[in-house]
Amino acid sequence: MAIRTILHYPDKRLRIPGAVVTDFGPELQALVDDMAETMYAAPGVGLAAPQIGISKRLFLIDVATGEDQPSDLRIFVNPVILERAGEVAWEEGCLSFPGVHEEIDRAERVKVHAQDRHGVSFELEAEGLLAVAIQHEHDHLEGKLMVDHLGMLKKRMVHRQMVKRANEAHDGAE
Ligand code: NI
Repeated sequence: MAIRTILHYPDKRLRIPGAVVTDFGPELQALVDDMAETMYAAPGVGLAAPQIGISKRLFLIDVATGEDQPSDLRIFVNPVILERAGEVAWEEGCLSFPGVHEEIDRAERVKVHAQDRHGVSFELEAEGLLAVAIQHEHDHLEGKLMVDHLGMLKKRMVHRQMVKRANEAHDGAE
């Protein structure tokens, strides 16, 4: 297993929509393992393949945040959100936006269809953090990012903050 590099906004690769996964062979299994290791090392509650530069429809979520909680790793391959209900405003972060936390309007509950890492189909009804995380990660598969949910002023502010951060990181590397 290996920790992959997480791309940070405004990296253009984050805007590439994911392709449908058709091969559930060893390459995908290795990718899933690497993504889990990368997500836990970050640490984060979710990670989508496009965030590590892999344009595939696949994301991982683990909402067991407490140190004494057992892990609750969920893998969603080719997910489709079938139903959305209710409204909730949730303060979200994203591993591709380090240091950024913004309140975003989401559906309170979702019903999702997906495949597991071996290609077996399942359906899941979720609410709360898990429902929000599913919507957030699903956006990544469409090349959609948390800034796209913000008003123009906030969006500009986050954009400037992230560009400044990227330039600083670049200067530091020289
Ligand atoms: Ni994200």
